[in-house]
Amino acid sequence: MDQADELRRKVEQMKEQAPSSRVIAVTSGKGGVGKTSISVNLALQLQNLGKKVVIIDADFGLANVEVMLGIRPQYNLADLIYGGKSVEEIITQGPNGIGFISGGSGVQDLVNLDKLSLKKLISKMVKLDSMYDVVIIDTGAGIADSVIEFVISSPEVLLVVTPEPTSITDAYSLLKAVNRKKDFDREEKSIKVVTNRVSNKEEGEEIFEKISIVVSKFLNIQLEYLGYIPQNNSMSSSVLEQTPVLIREPEGEPAMRIKGMCNKLLDIPEVEKPKSGIAKVLLSFIKSKKNNG
Ligand SMILES: Nc1ncnc2c1ncn2[C@@H]1O[C@H](COP(=O)(O)OP(=O)(O)OP(=O)(O)O)[C@@H](O)[C@H]1O
Ligand SMILES: [Mg+2]
Repeated sequence: MDQADELRRKVEQMKEQAPSSRVIAVTSGKGGVGKTSISVNLALQLQNLGKKVVIIDADFGLANVEVMLGIRPQYNLADLIYGGKSVEEIITQGPNGIGFISGGSGVQDLVNLDKLSLKKLISKMVKLDSMYDVVIIDTGAGIADSVIEFVISSPEVLLVVTPEPTSITDAYSLLKAVNRKKDFDREEKSIKVVTNRVSNKEEGEEIFEKISIVVSKFLNIQLEYLGYIPQNNSMSSSVLEQTPVLIREPEGEPAMRIKGMCNKLLDIPEVEKPKSGIAKVLLSFIKSKKNNG
């Protein structure tokens, strides 16, 4: 039994003992497609909807979670594994009350931990289950061991894809690599696709259709569509300004799309917004008053 098997077995045991958080791993084949932006904004909106959310940054990308939120964590996962810190001590508070755990150098070590450190890690991390409703793991991109392990271990995976051909082919390669692993349980897993940086709704849907047909045919994996985010300048400027779009422009299009995804994730039915508002009501009131004397 390798370390990854051991980790999963222990997590299964823990699950039976305590109520669990909902864990969502955000991943992609190609880097730079929007995983971190999406993780952060989803976390903020889920928190707005009354869920307690923590993000674990297991990504070594350039604009990582701390950059996007403009916060500097004092400790990271390595301090929990090697430095005797508790899980509470390594959580940094972010906007809207979200929690944030920086992976730091601890993530690279995760798949190769010795038994004792692994036991220590799990017994500490399991505390998150009682603290948070949702744990979002920003996994980083590609077919690195740690990314594949996170995808295999998380019951729910959010796969981010952009219209770039390499983003689509790399997403396929990632799923192919995951599919090859003996622990991959297709029945238990829900893989949801987000199309990002698309020019419109239709393009997002087309990309999803394309991937989903191929993945279903060759890998026998059924994908679900969570939604799309258009190419939008406020997504990139929000990184520079270190304020996520959900806070900066909560009514803007990217934020509205994120809200739609969160509603889907929480099974909240989409409510058709009344288009008229008070003006229309008042006008028709005046009109009817005139007509009726
Ligand atoms: N819908 C969008 N419209 C415009 N720019 C976007 C959009 N989504 C993401 N970006 C920009 O693309 C860049 C990469 O985004 P982000 O860092 O979230 O990707 P990532 O997948 O986490 O990258 P990495 O693989 O390096 O971790 C950022 O500058 C971000 O602002
Ligand atoms: Mg990233």
